[in-house]
Amino acid sequence: HVSNEIREKCRDLILDNDTLKKIGAIFLDNVNRGLQKATHDKAVVKCFPTYVQDLPDGTENGKFLALDLGGTNFRVLLIELSGEHFEMKSKIFAIPQHIMLGSGEQLFDHIAECLAIFVKEEQVQQETLPLGFTFSFPLSQKGLTVGILQRWTKGFNCSNVVGNDVVQMLNEAIERRGDVKIEVCAILNDTTGTLMSCAWKNHDCRIGLIVGTGNNGCYVEKQGNAELFEDSDMGSGKVIINLENGAFGDDGCLDFVRTEYDREVDKHSINPGRQIQEKMISGMYMGELVRLALEKFTKEGLLFGGKGSDLLYERGRFYTKYVSEIESDEPGMFTNQKEILEELGLKHATEQDYVNVRFVCECVSRRAAHLASTSIVTLLHKMDEKKVTIGVDGSVYRYHPHFHNLMMEKIGELCDPSIEFGLMLSEDGSGRGAALVAAVAARQKKKAR
Ligand code: BG6
Ligand code: GLC
Repeated sequence: HVSNEIREKCRDLILDNDTLKKIGAIFLDNVNRGLQKATHDKAVVKCFPTYVQDLPDGTENGKFLALDLGGTNFRVLLIELSGEHFEMKSKIFAIPQHIMLGSGEQLFDHIAECLAIFVKEEQVQQETLPLGFTFSFPLSQKGLTVGILQRWTKGFNCSNVVGNDVVQMLNEAIERRGDVKIEVCAILNDTTGTLMSCAWKNHDCRIGLIVGTGNNGCYVEKQGNAELFEDSDMGSGKVIINLENGAFGDDGCLDFVRTEYDREVDKHSINPGRQIQEKMISGMYMGELVRLALEKFTKEGLLFGGKGSDLLYERGRFYTKYVSEIESDEPGMFTNQKEILEELGLKHATEQDYVNVRFVCECVSRRAAHLASTSIVTLLHKMDEKKVTIGVDGSVYRYHPHFHNLMMEKIGELCDPSIEFGLMLSEDGSGRGAALVAAVAARQKKKAR
């Protein structure tokens, strides 16, 4: 059994359904403020219209390049769509930390270089291929190929990019090289890429969700409700909204549920005061939340006989993947956990410690799943559809052994029972989504002519 003291200490990490419903109501108000012109500027949940006006219908075809920047891996992809079939080749390139924190010009030169290497390897450098750019940061869009960066999030903080059009920056970097030809057809968020990719297979897909390095969602909204959307209707009457709800709470509205661990994580991040909900949910921060709680409980003498280790007390050293691994142990077994604690210099952990550590992990990951579920339920209630599939991607959702079930259960508890919902993992990442956005746009353009 979990010890009483630990259970007591973890109480502030548990959000009951009444609290979640209250958070859901505040979130709805935030979404409406983001959508409306009069309130958008001050809103923290920005609800950016994406200019993606339609979902795939299965007739998309062509050969596309895609870039996927902003998750764990930076990827360059070559995608061929033809009806039911699709082929994808991709290559992962590293983005060294000095580039993530360097100048914007350096970043885009690096991206262009990776693109050049890839098109040469794939021998498509002679073709001018359309490219979809998945750029997973908050963009204010003026069209499908114009995206002004509003702020960096997660681990990126390059100078001279905020306020600029990242498509233009990419094009300029490609021009500086002069050895590749492409046409950027669309810039999109990973949530949109995920939604499109899933919608290609499942026609009920209307929401995209990422629980990975970062946390964010998007959904299909009526153009009439998206006051910032200024394009002409291409016939669907719909537009995908990139919520950027990782920023939910940036105005203090979640302070009533934040813990000392949340405040500590925020204080030491590269963007204090920003992305408050993201810091309670996503993989970039989850392990550190657990570590801070374990550190505190150890110093209070409640864990490891009061004797910690240098690594346990080192910032960032308790990886989020540990949380998934520890919770993957069969109940009553602690195989993964033993290995992890040994790695951290905690050989002296007892059976009671194992039970307690697992409980701390569960509290933090459950809270993340419950907060993510709350946002989804708010959208389901807002959208006025009877059946909605949610396309999901991200390392936390993908690798945490219970995240999917925790979300299914919580959405089931909180959602109006007349709405049918499902959570669908995006198998192929958001690369295919980027190609589909480019293809759908081409189709609509043709239709509009
Ligand atoms: C990938 C998508 O599968 O998941 C990316 O292709 C996305 O577009 C990423 O950003 C999110 O997960 P993580 O854990 O890599 O941040
Ligand atoms: C961050 C980004 C957002 C992205 C999310 C998931 O919240 O701001 O654009 O979708 O991470 O990668």
